[in-house]
Amino acid sequence: MAEACIVMQQVQQVYGKKQVLSDINLTIEQGCIYGILGPSGCGKTTLVKAMAGILEPTAGSVQVLGEAMPNLAVMNRIGYMTQSDALYQNLSGVENLEFFGALYGLKKKDLQAAIVRALDLVKLTEAQHNLVSSYSGGMKRRLSLAAAILHQPRILILDEPTVGIDPVLRRQIWQALYDMVAHGTTVIVTTHVMDEADRCFQLMMMRDGMVLETGSPEAIKKKYGVGTIEEVFVMLGEVVQSS
Ligand SMILES: Nc1ncnc2c1ncn2[C@@H]1O[C@H](COP(=O)(O)OP(=O)(O)OP(=O)(O)O)[C@@H](O)[C@H]1O
Ligand SMILES: [Mg+2]
Repeated sequence: MAEACIVMQQVQQVYGKKQVLSDINLTIEQGCIYGILGPSGCGKTTLVKAMAGILEPTAGSVQVLGEAMPNLAVMNRIGYMTQSDALYQNLSGVENLEFFGALYGLKKKDLQAAIVRALDLVKLTEAQHNLVSSYSGGMKRRLSLAAAILHQPRILILDEPTVGIDPVLRRQIWQALYDMVAHGTTVIVTTHVMDEADRCFQLMMMRDGMVLETGSPEAIKKKYGVGTIEEVFVMLGEVVQSS
């Protein structure tokens, strides 16, 4: 069994009187693509924020790379792509990447090489000098992804990365994720998209802040005797939008 990359034990998050995460226990192995799947509002973003060390949960423990979170040194080894793009609209694409790269502490020469690589990966080389305010939604998502991978993180957390991205590019991005995993990155991805769920090595299906099911997509489908993860959700009493 591969080494654990992220371990959550009895994690809970409460906002006011609302219990958003209830008793979450999970282990994510290194070198895995781990998908978090569930309907809108079920707590996916809250969960990945706790993994990234941005949110300290109300209760429970979060360990990443063997350290208790939040931990600044570990946070520097994480790439986090938020659900809503945190980009500077009045800067160009490449200027945004220069800014985020400087935040990661990359040296100028390394940063330039990292930017070229990341722009190529997300197919934004041509548009790199245009202002982000002129980008489409999908272009902004792709630029956010480029920003998250500049420092070659050990762990890449992607919150709904392919929203607004066409199927061809979506496939390319998944290929890039597989390449990163082959080089030792662990990827955590939240999604609503069922065909993306099938691309993950391991899945965590959640609803109302609780874990419904975990396992490989194949094992989960087999357990419920169905051909798609969507059918599993239906059987579990929840219909998730298919894209
Ligand atoms: N800062 C906050 N204060 C109060 N409530 C919050 C806060 N952040 C999230 N919530 C609530 O927690 C619940 C889970 O939110 P979260 O964003 O984690 O869901 P999600 O699964 O990512 O949804 P989506 O698929 O729409 O992105 C929601 O009911 C949301 O309104
Ligand atoms: Mg979310």
